[in-house]
Amino acid sequence: MRAPLRRVRTWRAAAIVAVAIGTATLPIGAQTDVQSVVSAAFGKYRTVTEGKNADYIPALAKVDPNLFGIAVVGREGKVYTAGDVNYEVSIQSISKVFTMARVIQDQGPQAVEKTIGVDATGMRFNSIVSVELAYKLGGGPELNPLVNPGAITATSMVEGATADVVWSKILGTYNDFAGRPLSVLQDVYKSESDTNQRNQAIGMLMHAYGYIKQNPAQATDLYTRQCSVGVNARDLATMAATLAFGGRNPVTGKQAISTENVPYVLAVMATAGLYDDSGKWLYHTGLPAKSGVGGGIIAVAPGKFGIAVVSPPLDEAGNSIRAQRAIEHIVNALALNPYASKPSRAAASQ
Ligand code: DON
Repeated sequence: MRAPLRRVRTWRAAAIVAVAIGTATLPIGAQTDVQSVVSAAFGKYRTVTEGKNADYIPALAKVDPNLFGIAVVGREGKVYTAGDVNYEVSIQSISKVFTMARVIQDQGPQAVEKTIGVDATGMRFNSIVSVELAYKLGGGPELNPLVNPGAITATSMVEGATADVVWSKILGTYNDFAGRPLSVLQDVYKSESDTNQRNQAIGMLMHAYGYIKQNPAQATDLYTRQCSVGVNARDLATMAATLAFGGRNPVTGKQAISTENVPYVLAVMATAGLYDDSGKWLYHTGLPAKSGVGGGIIAVAPGKFGIAVVSPPLDEAGNSIRAQRAIEHIVNALALNPYASKPSRAAASQ
């Protein structure tokens, strides 16, 4: 049956307004489609058993590998979920995004660019060789805040007279992004503190090379604490959605970071969010994202959605296998790849 002309015109007018104001809104009525896409992604990957929990932090090996939760947060805080979305895992490296955001917010984007760098290392997240190579290249800022040397440095850049003051700034920032008070999973913090000798060495090396100005031991401890903060898939999707909507939490309405600083955060996520597999990820999804060895991945579709999946088993690069697949499915189904443009005019006749 053909739609009455008036309805078609009204819909087209609404679509034109949406494009004109750059909102990329989904047509009314497509809301339920988002839920069915999320449910389909869950159903499709629920039985995948590939990969293995991280075990270099003993507490992470004990997390249930069957845990699988998907959450998507859209405009005005609308939430779509499937699976285990209320179960908390440690945020791990996803925390690096929000500490970087805090440093950019307090000191400006140039502080991160000049002190740490915003380039991909192409190496593992805890590579010491990447620090040595950067040093060989003249000691310049050739790292980024999403690999451990840059992340521990970013934590050291959060200003405060005592460790408690610095910590309350870091956690306060995460709370603003998540829209609720988060807390440290003490078993993970203890387990990682007992086994983080490599990160302690990285902190010391960054101090020796002048990236960290003082107290590298404090920076490494606070970094370990930030990695141990407990989050569920819904929290992570809200954090991602805050970045998707100009730094304002779409659920609470609180501005977590200035709108003009958001593109800097997303650029580093696009460059280095999935470590040495960041290029591969961008090739397939086009979206800035960040993974953590706790099994979470967040992805940001600017102006549209924050997406998060939690599933602990990881691939060789340290990225959750089911989270990568489920997010890729959602990106394709909802046409979220920003590089996938359409021709602006009809093809010329040959
Ligand atoms: O520094 C570490 O080893 C962990 N706290 C975080 C590593 C991590 O999440 C890397 N993720 N893919």
